[in-house]
Amino acid sequence: MSFKEYKTHVEMGDTVILYLNIKNIHAITVTEEVKNKKGNMVPNIFQTVYGALKVKDLVGMKYGSQVQMTRGWAFALHPTPELWTLTLPHRTQILYTPDISIVLTQLELRPGSVVCEAGTGSGSLSHAILRTIAPTGHLHTFDFHEQRSRLAAEEFSAHGVGDYVTARHRDVCGEGFDLDSVADAVFLDLPRPYDAVPFAKQALKKSGGRICSFSPCIEQVQKTCDSLRKHGFTELQTLECLQREFQVRKSVMSVFDLSQPPTDGSADGDERPSKKAAMEERPREVLTGIPLTTMPGHTGFLTFATLPPVMTSAT
Ligand SMILES: C[S@@+](CC[C@H](N)C(=O)[O-])C[C@H]1O[C@@H](n2cnc3c(N)ncnc32)[C@H](O)[C@@H]1O
Repeated sequence: MSFKEYKTHVEMGDTVILYLNIKNIHAITVTEEVKNKKGNMVPNIFQTVYGALKVKDLVGMKYGSQVQMTRGWAFALHPTPELWTLTLPHRTQILYTPDISIVLTQLELRPGSVVCEAGTGSGSLSHAILRTIAPTGHLHTFDFHEQRSRLAAEEFSAHGVGDYVTARHRDVCGEGFDLDSVADAVFLDLPRPYDAVPFAKQALKKSGGRICSFSPCIEQVQKTCDSLRKHGFTELQTLECLQREFQVRKSVMSVFDLSQPPTDGSADGDERPSKKAAMEERPREVLTGIPLTTMPGHTGFLTFATLPPVMTSAT
């Protein structure tokens, strides 16, 4: 299965997104059998709130079509980085699509870009980067947790994007990226991003590039900004992405009668409506947008900066 291009029908080995409803979405791998808790191979039956699904029955189905289960139905969707972010196995905290979209845009990524990322974590951001830079770019992604790095590499291969990524087990704050002047952009999601800044500078191309650091705490942001300035980065900017959702509702409101100016009613023979009457005169049903009282809170601060090109005497 590939996250970089689409196909029409489900095949054995594919990752399929089983969409039951907005709060109930699962990524499943299409195989005839799976290992049970005792380590024995048993038929791959996926249990959902709408009943059981024989996973091998998905083979040959058109992506996007309805899947019948024992007590209801779902949709078999083609995987995308956005759906993977909603369904992936969490090995760490992850980046979500609103922050990811800002990262991709602000880092100016496009097909052919070379990117360094640390840490790999659960590979949520990595999948979105890979779709953006394929088929001519490359992602070098690092994590100092060996198992996370290995599992991410296995997922990249299973998802058909393995050729565009090198996943390495490495402490980038202590040992750097082991890359010199190759990257167009660097992304850091680390507890101590400021320690990785000099290594990020080394990895970026001499023609310059962009960096982003994601940190939940403002103290990390302050230290990262100090380090970025110290190492010659410019155009520092810190953003926070907060989603404010609106509910569309009908509501009854009093509407001012603006066809005539209201009066205080003091002048004799004045037939214009009084101020009070003008306000109360025309209660009307209107369509309004009301912000929800609850909203997803702070995820993290996104600090962006530019490394300007190195000027040589020949330039
Ligand atoms: C929050 S997770 C990254 C999540 C990732 N951005 C995603 O969207 O799935 C942070 C990762 O950084 C790794 N890490 C922390 N310090 C590191 C270092 N010095 N070098 C490499 N990886 C590091 C951790 O092991 C962890 O997996």
